[in-house]
Amino acid sequence: MKAFEKLAKFYNKGWGELSSLYMKLVDYTIEKYNLSTDKALDVACGTGMLAADLSNKGFKVTGVDLSEDMIHEATRNNPELKFHVGDMRNFNINDKFNLITCAFDSINYLTDSSMMKEAIQNIYKHLSDGGIFIVDINTPALYEDKHHGTLHREFENIKFDQILEYDKMQRIGVTTFDFGEGQKEVHTQKAYTVEEMEGFLGEVGFNILEKFKDFKLSLVDERAYKVIFIARK
Ligand SMILES: C[S@@+](CC[C@H](N)C(=O)[O-])C[C@H]1O[C@@H](n2cnc3c(N)ncnc32)[C@H](O)[C@@H]1O
Repeated sequence: MKAFEKLAKFYNKGWGELSSLYMKLVDYTIEKYNLSTDKALDVACGTGMLAADLSNKGFKVTGVDLSEDMIHEATRNNPELKFHVGDMRNFNINDKFNLITCAFDSINYLTDSSMMKEAIQNIYKHLSDGGIFIVDINTPALYEDKHHGTLHREFENIKFDQILEYDKMQRIGVTTFDFGEGQKEVHTQKAYTVEEMEGFLGEVGFNILEKFKDFKLSLVDERAYKVIFIARK
């Protein structure tokens, strides 16, 4: 089973609302950096929740995601918005955007630095000059402290296990969603450090404006679990 093939149908029940937290950052960025609300691209848009919020803010929004099932849900939820199936490393939209977002550890699905470099370069290409990229990573601290054990989940009538494993040497986190009767989705992510991410962004020419460890805009510390970057082309 492909990642998000089954999860897509009830993703919003568990995680969909989270992406609206991103709007706090978007509002902050619009205000502080005088960002135009002309065009936004949500990379790894999932079920389109953030895309909908960006649209309500006045952006003309496009979403792209690797998973056909997630794009199906995004389109069903927001028929008025444009969504495309595509890999963040090589999608090609003949347009440039003032804002690009990549929310909720989507970029951790790129499991080596060459994949990461391709994606950041491609995102850079799709930004207009002065455009802003907001992205978050999950760090090794999160995987070390939290990515172990089994969560027994129930969303409406669907029960499943979420099995969390982490290889500290490789910095690879595997999440298995076990729906029973042999139906399993395996999601593989890599933990990236702040310094690595700064390198990927800096290498293609991004200027990192700010970074935070949460949506209350707290400053990053050594054991931050999540780091959100605001970077400008
Ligand atoms: C944790 S979900 C987050 C979805 C959405 N951004 C949100 O905040 O709800 C990760 C998403 O990344 C997408 N994804 C993973 N690898 C990708 C890639 N190489 N290119 C584009 N999307 C990718 C998945 O299909 C999934 O929708």
